Amino acid sequence: MTRPVLHCAHALPPAVEARLAAAYRVERPAPDADPLEALRAAADRVDAALTTVTDRVPADVFERPGRRLRIVANFGVGVNLIDLAAAKRAGVVVTNTPDVLTDCTADLTIGLMLMALRRLGEGERLVRAGRWTGWQPTHLLGRRVSGLTLGIVGMGRIGRAVAARARLGFGMTIRWTGRGAVPAPLEQTAAGGGGPVPAGVDPAEWLPLDDLLATADVVSLHCPATPETVGLLDARRIGLLRSGAVLINTARGALVDEAALAAALRTGRLLAAGLDVYREEPRVPADLLALENVVLLPHLGSATLETRTAMGHLAADNLDAFFAGGAPPNRVA
Ligand code: DGY
Repeated sequence: MTRPVLHCAHALPPAVEARLAAAYRVERPAPDADPLEALRAAADRVDAALTTVTDRVPADVFERPGRRLRIVANFGVGVNLIDLAAAKRAGVVVTNTPDVLTDCTADLTIGLMLMALRRLGEGERLVRAGRWTGWQPTHLLGRRVSGLTLGIVGMGRIGRAVAARARLGFGMTIRWTGRGAVPAPLEQTAAGGGGPVPAGVDPAEWLPLDDLLATADVVSLHCPATPETVGLLDARRIGLLRSGAVLINTARGALVDEAALAAALRTGRLLAAGLDVYREEPRVPADLLALENVVLLPHLGSATLETRTAMGHLAADNLDAFFAGGAPPNRVA
């Protein structure tokens, strides 16, 4: 049987590479090729494309008259760079990789929160620069994490996993905002995949977004970038954050007005921020780079071997189901 042709511009974890090579004829663009141009050209030649969360797939890829491409399997849960409406119109299937990255992204969110509140990046830079002159009672004082109020924007899978860690690990009070029904008790979302957790923890309180921003010590973003959420934290809403608050973003850079955030950090009105994502990755705005009180990570939320391998297998499951004539398990268009 002829193997379907798969366009993939990225190196993947070894187990995933081996699996895809066995089932597909994997085509790779030249290393110096522009990724979008390479995808456009490939669309007329290949049956499938495996994209990642940094690949733009605009409408014209789906609308090409000579298109052979029938499925885009995204390696990642966020599909904000793929024109899903155009894919639907053209009858091209799009899939993503939810669930498998929940724990690792939640872990990284907690890491960023600790780094930001306890000034860990500043401390590390100081030591490496040979500028540490010794322990002092007032040196690099951060904020005590335990007992603070955490506001979660978007109580989906990752938001809930963060809330469970924050409440169980740090005794934080959890407030949340977002669409949809009030979620099931956080006790059902224990860290590590959902075992029982001690009883007696407070329920999370739902608040409208503006009220949540005005009352949380730490605000953590966990909603996808959609037309409704792009620019959600604009200058006005950043102005609502309480004095001394901390903003954490492991969701999407497009949710935040980065210039307004930098301004609020520069004046010290916000204590700190922890960012894993940016509006135009890999470009990080110079006014953020210039600040000490922001932790800047290179989109590492799901970056563990276990999770990236699981993401790759899920993308492959979707491709396999499609080419076997079945329903891909994670279809988003
Ligand atoms: C995703 O899957 O959307 C994440 O951002 C990848 O880490």
